[in-house]
Amino acid sequence: VQRTFSIVKPDATRRNLTGAINAKLEAAGLRIIAQKRIHLTKAQAGVFYAVHKERPFYDELCEFMSSEPIVVQVLEGEDAIAKNREVMGATNPAQAAEGTIRKEFALSIGENSIHGSDAPETAAVEIAYFFSGLELVG
Ligand code: GTP
Ligand code: MG
Repeated sequence: VQRTFSIVKPDATRRNLTGAINAKLEAAGLRIIAQKRIHLTKAQAGVFYAVHKERPFYDELCEFMSSEPIVVQVLEGEDAIAKNREVMGATNPAQAAEGTIRKEFALSIGENSIHGSDAPETAAVEIAYFFSGLELVG
């Protein structure tokens, strides 16, 4: 089994879509082994997205991610990283496959409802940024 890190983004928490998104994650075979609702500062969002620092949308992204509460999660399952990326759908909802979270719920390429780690190394770093070992109940 593998673990990955996930965020229900502000556009989704604002529209009460946390449950609907969790249902899709669970239906895909992912187990939510940790979850909490938090409200990031812009500086905290900036650290999380530091890899995108040079991208033109960095400031907008950090502004958005700190605009309202988010729900951070750890998901566990067979091939959890790939499985989660599949159920999330493409970054741009216009390109997302039918039935994916972003196809169904995302508003735009920026306000795209969910984040998921893209590799084992980033998953480990992202999980550790938000959760202590004691909070992961697998
Ligand atoms: P994450 O799981 O959130 O990391 O999405 P991703 O891996 O599919 O996309 P990527 O890592 O390339 O970009 C991170 C996030 O930046 C995206 O999920 C979007 O919220 C945002 N983003 C990416 N491209 C754009 C863009 O062109 N404009 C804006 N405003 N935001 C963008
Ligand atoms: Mg990414």
